[in-house]
Amino acid sequence: MSKKFFITTAIDYANGSPHVGHAYEKILTDVIARYKRLSGESVHFLTGLDEHGQKVQMSAQKKGVEPIGECDALAAEFQDLCSRLTISNDDYIRTTQTRHKEVVQSILQKLFDEGLIYKADYNGYYSIRQEQFVTEKERVDGQWPEIYGEVIEVTESNYFFKLSQYQDWLIDYIRSNDTWIYPRFRSADVLNFLKEPLNDLCISRPKERLSWGIELPFDQNFVTYVWFDALVNYISAIGYGTDALKAYWPVDYHVIGKDILSPPHAVYWPIMLKALGVEMPQHFLVHGWWLSSGSKMSKSDGEVINPLDLINTYGADAFRYFVIREMNVGQDSEFSLELFQSRYNSDLANDLGNLVSRLLNMGHRFANGIIPEMQILEDEERAVIDHWEKVKGSALDLYEDFQFHKALEKTFVFVAELNRYAELRAPWKLAKSEDADDQKRLGTTLAFMAEGLRLSSVLLAPVMPAISNKILKLLSTDPIDVFDHHLEWGNSLSQNAFGEKEILFPKNDT
Ligand code: MSP
Repeated sequence: MSKKFFITTAIDYANGSPHVGHAYEKILTDVIARYKRLSGESVHFLTGLDEHGQKVQMSAQKKGVEPIGECDALAAEFQDLCSRLTISNDDYIRTTQTRHKEVVQSILQKLFDEGLIYKADYNGYYSIRQEQFVTEKERVDGQWPEIYGEVIEVTESNYFFKLSQYQDWLIDYIRSNDTWIYPRFRSADVLNFLKEPLNDLCISRPKERLSWGIELPFDQNFVTYVWFDALVNYISAIGYGTDALKAYWPVDYHVIGKDILSPPHAVYWPIMLKALGVEMPQHFLVHGWWLSSGSKMSKSDGEVINPLDLINTYGADAFRYFVIREMNVGQDSEFSLELFQSRYNSDLANDLGNLVSRLLNMGHRFANGIIPEMQILEDEERAVIDHWEKVKGSALDLYEDFQFHKALEKTFVFVAELNRYAELRAPWKLAKSEDADDQKRLGTTLAFMAEGLRLSSVLLAPVMPAISNKILKLLSTDPIDVFDHHLEWGNSLSQNAFGEKEILFPKNDT
């Protein structure tokens, strides 16, 4: 059996409701998964929930509920968001599931047996908010930076994983694999981090401080540090320890935000895998942040408008379109309602929506509701075909390179071009002419608009799956499973019925 294209998102913390950052990462990963499926690959798409650790324990405590009750409620909320956004994940892992806990414990035992985990006394500082030990060198002007929240002094015994002995290996690996991290400039952040000597990683927390975690198999007084637990989801979900793993691993892309690249994903995770004798992930795809007035958006912002409400008002596909069109993967992007509405009105309602409604309208008025043959080929038509050929070539390359915002831009320039072509040919005038060639031009114009619309919809399928299918249905043609020949300009729609007139993107100013 050939290996699947395996792609993952980060697993979200179960300490609050989903927000736009979580939604974006899932949409981005979904667009890639759908694009790969349409390109003929067999895809496995994993996402899930990170349920252990101090943050989760504290947020449950604050509400006076058991952590697992809180996690169950949030798992339902996050999964509901996935379905509202039509995310096509094949699996959803929760770190409280037995399949996950067993793998974490087997890994801990293996590393312990091999002497890669050892017990030692630790005396130092601990950041409750970041759930990690911090050192004097993290202080700025004698103060702990804001991101660490409350920092306490602790003296305790703990278990440590021998990170430090892999430092040179990791530096070499990153230097000799310059496409490992996308965008490439992020590798520099990791190499920078690796300039300082690595400390061994404290992978345990004493139960008296934190009970909500996976118990260490070799010492029941401790639970596992949440990152050491969470990262393992990528292999526990696909059958680590069994033959099944080969069908998925190495993962093709771990899609993550820039805040969790270094150290967790680019330092801890590769070293954990190396120590276990497991192949390296093929790539990390590191996206930027959605910002509001320059700051990272999250649940606690008290936004005037919750961006996720836009899904209910405007539909999943409009939301998906906006975040993919607006964000240059890897960079940050500012979120604003005005920008959303402006994209919705200009690209979706005016350009695409209008093309659909005027075509259906004219199809019923001038062609008895049947898509005509292409009967004539003049300069106007040649220009449309030429334009399509360029869009097709470049858009697929852009999808391949994660330049989705540009692929969409090109597709929408083509949609606008189809509207212009309609203006130029003016079927409403041709319909009044008795000239036989004008009648041919009339039919051809409708046929060209329909074909151009069909092709645009096929190209938009990874980003706007529901709208794409809806348009194909209005042209009486089937949804597609693979791009294959469906992106070739042709005459396949001729004699199909036009669907009933429909407003795909109603104007809405809320
Ligand atoms: N639980 C860890 C990840 C463990 S992966 C083994 C975590 N969870 S999180 O809920 O805080 O973040 C989940 C993902 O959402 C991360 O990749 C993070 O970068 C992303 N985002 C959170 N806020 C974001 C924005 N404002 N914008 C874009 N994505 C950001 O980290």
